[in-house]
Amino acid sequence: MDRRGFVTSGMAAGLAGITASGGTLGAFLNHAPGFSPGKKLANGDIRLSSNENPLGVSPAARDAIIEAIVESNRYGGRRREVIAALSSYVGVKPEQITLGFGSTEILQICTQAFQGPNTPLIAAAPTFEDVMDYQDTMPFEVHTVPLTADLQHDVQQMRDLSMKRPSVVYFCNPNNPTGTITASADIDAWIAEAPETTVFLMDEAYLEYVTDDRYWDSLKWIEQKPNVVVIRTFSKIFGMAGLRLGYAVTHETTATRLQEHSIQNSPNVLAGAAAIASLQDDGIVERAITVNEEAKSIVHTTLNELDLEYLPTNTNFIMHKINGDLPTYRNRMADAGLLVGRNFPPMLDHNRLSFGLPEEMDQWASAIKDFRRKGWI
Ligand SMILES: Cc1ncc(COP(=O)(O)O)c(C=O)c1O
Repeated sequence: MDRRGFVTSGMAAGLAGITASGGTLGAFLNHAPGFSPGKKLANGDIRLSSNENPLGVSPAARDAIIEAIVESNRYGGRRREVIAALSSYVGVKPEQITLGFGSTEILQICTQAFQGPNTPLIAAAPTFEDVMDYQDTMPFEVHTVPLTADLQHDVQQMRDLSMKRPSVVYFCNPNNPTGTITASADIDAWIAEAPETTVFLMDEAYLEYVTDDRYWDSLKWIEQKPNVVVIRTFSKIFGMAGLRLGYAVTHETTATRLQEHSIQNSPNVLAGAAAIASLQDDGIVERAITVNEEAKSIVHTTLNELDLEYLPTNTNFIMHKINGDLPTYRNRMADAGLLVGRNFPPMLDHNRLSFGLPEEMDQWASAIKDFRRKGWI
């Protein structure tokens, strides 16, 4: 079966699964207005702007959600089971896992646990802004360091800044919005020598999409380094962005510290059921990667044909040149029913495009080729 056939039949199988095992409720969802797993928005627009997984939650997770709805009047989203399932998936003890309402809650918890007036945050520019936003409500300084010419974190400059006092360092690797990676060996060399007063927030939201072999995850540090927090999410590869579940993997002592700031009865019932089912679904990661690779290939072919430069991506999105004014480009794409990107200063000559289903990327390709014919890009 070719990749596109695989995608289409996979989705059909998912829908069939809902009706078969979801019973009346499944049938209801199947006929709910606008219900179309992983596909268009209710108004028909295609969203290629938020780095979501276009396949939606896995068929097994959909079944589990439907079954769990009846437990929604109860507290407790199978917290222990989720933590147990995660601990065997990641290969750590349950005591080393902290759950959050998405990985953004983990970032907020880390801010509360580690930042303060004398503990600045050191981060790249551009990078995922969320952790910096907490500065509005917490008194801490932010030092941003531009990415290097080859779009890696400037490890040396970040390290120099951290020497002055206790610091929190945010590594978004792979990096959002550039989609690029920083060589893990360079980061490891710093972590190996850093004092415990330098806390490393290792955001690995896009880990599974990486193809560059200079990248590896940061898990190996957590036993020996309580100052390393590995941050992951169910939002991307598991397609659960709307259900809100993320987690931190750390040393046990760090987990205890983080959990002083976290909500003790998360996850919610539906997210918990979906997470357990997703972790048991052996093919889920491979399916998401296969679809992502096909979408990426359509985008690469199109951008090459149009001679528009792009950054090497290790994620489910790509930054590419647009030749022209970014808001105008986005508005024209929106007129064509395609929601793409937002502003990521200082890269205002690039658009960030999230990968959708292959057929959605074909629509994007037709639209951008049409723009070229009209002289817009
Ligand atoms: C690097 C990075 N970290 C974290 C998140 C937030 O993920 P979550 O949905 O788990 O809060 C995103 C979302 O796009 C992201 O790009």
